[in-house]
Amino acid sequence: MVNPFRNPDSEFSVNAKQGSKLVALRRINMEHIQQSRDNTNVSNTAMGEVLGLENNHSIKGKNHQILSNDAGMYAPSKEEIKCTKESLPVFRCRSQLLSLIRENQVVVIIGETGSGKTTQLAQYLYEEGYTNSEGKSIVVTQPRRVAAMSVAKRVALEMDVKLGREVGYSIRFEDMTDSEYTKLKFVTDGILLRETLLDDTLDKYSCVIIDEAHERSLNTDILLGFFKILLARRRDLKLIITSATMNAKKFSAFFGNAPQFTIPGRTFPVQTIYTANPVQDYVEAAVSQAIKIHLANDCSSGDILIFMTGQEDIETTSDILQEKLLQVYSKKFGTEKFEDISDVEILPIYSALPADLQFKIFRDLCGTKRKIIIATNIAETSLTIKGIRYVIDCGYSKLKVYNPKIGLDSLTITPISKANADQRSGRAGRTGPGTAYRLYTEDTFKEDMYLQTIPEIQRTNLSNTLLLLKSLNVTDELIKFPFIDKPPLQTFLSSLYELWFIGALDIKGQLTPLGLQMAKFPLQPSLSKILLIAVQNGCSSEMLTIVSMLSVPQVFYRPKERQKEADIARNKFFIAKSDHLTLLNVFVQWRANKFSSQWCNKHFVQYKSLVKARDIRDQLLTILKSQDIPVTSSGKDWNIIKKCICSGFAHQAAKISGLRNYIHLKTGVNVKLHPTSALHGLGDLPPYVIYHELLMTSNEYICCVTSVDPFWLMEYGVLLYDIKRITHDQESDTTGLFGERHEHVIDEVEDEIDINIRVCKD
Ligand code: CDP
Ligand code: MG
Repeated sequence: MVNPFRNPDSEFSVNAKQGSKLVALRRINMEHIQQSRDNTNVSNTAMGEVLGLENNHSIKGKNHQILSNDAGMYAPSKEEIKCTKESLPVFRCRSQLLSLIRENQVVVIIGETGSGKTTQLAQYLYEEGYTNSEGKSIVVTQPRRVAAMSVAKRVALEMDVKLGREVGYSIRFEDMTDSEYTKLKFVTDGILLRETLLDDTLDKYSCVIIDEAHERSLNTDILLGFFKILLARRRDLKLIITSATMNAKKFSAFFGNAPQFTIPGRTFPVQTIYTANPVQDYVEAAVSQAIKIHLANDCSSGDILIFMTGQEDIETTSDILQEKLLQVYSKKFGTEKFEDISDVEILPIYSALPADLQFKIFRDLCGTKRKIIIATNIAETSLTIKGIRYVIDCGYSKLKVYNPKIGLDSLTITPISKANADQRSGRAGRTGPGTAYRLYTEDTFKEDMYLQTIPEIQRTNLSNTLLLLKSLNVTDELIKFPFIDKPPLQTFLSSLYELWFIGALDIKGQLTPLGLQMAKFPLQPSLSKILLIAVQNGCSSEMLTIVSMLSVPQVFYRPKERQKEADIARNKFFIAKSDHLTLLNVFVQWRANKFSSQWCNKHFVQYKSLVKARDIRDQLLTILKSQDIPVTSSGKDWNIIKKCICSGFAHQAAKISGLRNYIHLKTGVNVKLHPTSALHGLGDLPPYVIYHELLMTSNEYICCVTSVDPFWLMEYGVLLYDIKRITHDQESDTTGLFGERHEHVIDEVEDEIDINIRVCKD
């Protein structure tokens, strides 16, 4: 396994400006959230306090030897693995569990994190012979990609087999399994859902383990409904649902009172410490708390796990933590660089982090160096990290929230539930007594937090899922699908409306031929649509690239010390009026430079993201080829590519308002161009644009934007928009405009027409 040392130019780095901007944005968010909580007595855990602390506490471990970077590569012996496996709580009830599974088609298994559910159950079933029949295997679903990969890796190690052979994993755009040999397969729940498209009886599996079901991810919920229908047809199929304590009864009831089995587990007491007053900024409070713990306790006393909301917060926390720790160490020891601090390692973990960096959190540093892990709620239950004794919980997580009235999905920083808070605290008590610092008051916990998080199905856009269910043909009417918790009717209807709008469903709600083809791609419906429309318009080669580039995180990077250079390099790729075409341009130039990593470094482009985009492109190409769909290039005809992009995003359009702002066409909300958009360089902004994503922070930003001809908006958004011609004497005429004028370019028509949302009469 590669364990690269921290590289100041790597994706770990966050530029300070961006960092402080994020802090500012978060503050605004915090203020907004806090208003509904408690307005009084905002406390200030300023860094001064922390720095003051160093007078009272000696810094421990300074003289500790620097650990070899290979510490994590230590491979345990077979004997050690056997010992570890047998020490897990699940091992003590192995035979009881297996007989319960033998006698029942569905079993719900409940156990503390770390009791061995994920890594052991599938192995037990394998040892018991559930994969002995010809072509049968066991599949374990995970709501998160990181967990699927890391667990498969661990299980392959325990079984002493090569990853990708007997044990493998499959996540979107990455398949590490072998159809002939793989017997234990760890997949994301979305992957299993897609597999049901190809084989709706899931014949190749003898056992399905739906792991982490308590997370209630959208895909897990749909799978549960799907199995409720399937189990009657597949009497031989075993379904095992694992859950943390919460929700277990619900799963059991859903499957006709299926037996529940609780793995007796040993946990140590965790002391919970609340703040006396609400904190003003949870990042600063977390940094301050982490430093206090680090300075007051020897490294061997245990590692620190900080729960943050998402990548931005995590990177900002990591950045500030480094900076503040260095201040302390430089004052005390004259340390000049963070890398010279020998007894702390800061390890961020979130889904978009490259896999080799994610795996660093599992390294055993043998108590000589303290790990400070900064994670999203990924570390609540799905990852077991040894040696955590201190938890710092910011009290929030990022949740996808859908507003069906305006048809917008946004990731919103939301207070966590009581169940999440307890789960987070519990992470401190796995190896010994621990302490959980909650960066909120006890009153907030008791009075403001929900008992449980609202399941994803009740707060997210369902268009992707409904398209999949439609194409699965599981039930005549979608609304009759056995949802464990029904989605709100309005969400349901607005998602169906969106599918109808982009042409995946007809007026009767039946799947159109286009919709059927769209469902074959593991992409959100709008992206499948632009790809298929591009096929019709002879630019599928370019669209494959654009869609792939849109499916990877961050393409450009801006290292702290070289921001200006990075910005200049980035500007060179800009294709005026289109971020989509800019992405295409980056990929095309990279390809022309033989996919070189040096080229990426030179141009401030993330090599890993581009490699990922190339892999995704290859896979999408395979799907196209499997359907005998030709791949053609439009050369430099950018207008046709833009028009095809418009075909899937006409409902995500905005028109200019004033000089530099936009108004969302559908919702009338004011939106701004994201600061990273290529369109910023234009003197005059284009009058009409479509966007890929809406980012809600203190402002509402449209990200990845392309200018469009209003006539294209009419062509693809005729269900939504009205067009109005403004003649020179300001009289308007609403008739007979569209037809042959599709080839007009915006500049020629900008003063002549105006597009508005139709008055909805639903
Ligand atoms: O699923 P559950 O939380 O019950 O436990 P698990 O993930 O099966 O973990 C059981 C044991 O395997 C724990 O002691 C983990 O530390 C270890 N494990 C590991 O070393 N590496 C992984 N990638 C996953 C688990
Ligand atoms: Mg687990």
